[in-house]
Amino acid sequence: MAQILPSIFGADILRLKDEIEFLERENTAILHVDMMDGNFVSNIAFGPNQIGAMKKASKMMFDVHMMIDHPKDHLDDVIATGAEMISVHYESTPHIHNMIQRIKKAGRKAGVVLNPGTPESVLEYLLDDIDYVLIMTINPGTPGQTFIEKSLEKIANLKKMIGSRPIQIEVDGGVNDVIAKQVAGAGAELIVVGGYLFGGNPDERYSILREAVK
Ligand code: DX5
Ligand code: ZN
Repeated sequence: MAQILPSIFGADILRLKDEIEFLERENTAILHVDMMDGNFVSNIAFGPNQIGAMKKASKMMFDVHMMIDHPKDHLDDVIATGAEMISVHYESTPHIHNMIQRIKKAGRKAGVVLNPGTPESVLEYLLDDIDYVLIMTINPGTPGQTFIEKSLEKIANLKKMIGSRPIQIEVDGGVNDVIAKQVAGAGAELIVVGGYLFGGNPDERYSILREAVK
């Protein structure tokens, strides 16, 4: 069954502790945490120190989405936060295979992220080494954008490519209750939600989302 991964970037930063406690009360298993450097994407968000502090204050598994240039220079700091899942953009490094090797060596789950314009075929020689693929369903860096419809085809194609390998498909960007149902139907198992969850009444929205992906 597909699960909802709240994106902490969508939460109210002034109430961060309350938001984390709310997500724990809701039995959230995995928290999605965005790392943005102002270069690979124009926004700037959580760095390893902030992620480490949140991790210490939480029982959830952390899924760190690295949206940064030169990820090789920051991976050790991300690993040191204790994050259980770490994903790197295919477009951000010429050494994606080595990044995966380093994440796996540290005993964490390794993910590769694909921008909307990057075809799933780039994963061909990585499929035996990764635990998950994060398909960006918006252009990364800015929340509140509209879901890119073409992503549904990409999810379905990737699912075929994966075959029986134990690889999960994650999606991130522009997901609401209607889209959540569609992406789950196409084969996504990890569904990131930011704006839709935190933008309304979070208790209500969380149960609507859960219902939608059942
Ligand atoms: C955007 C981030 C997302 C963001 C999603 O680049 O990677 O995790 O929080 O926000 P929504 O769900 O509002 O598109
Ligand atoms: Zn993200």
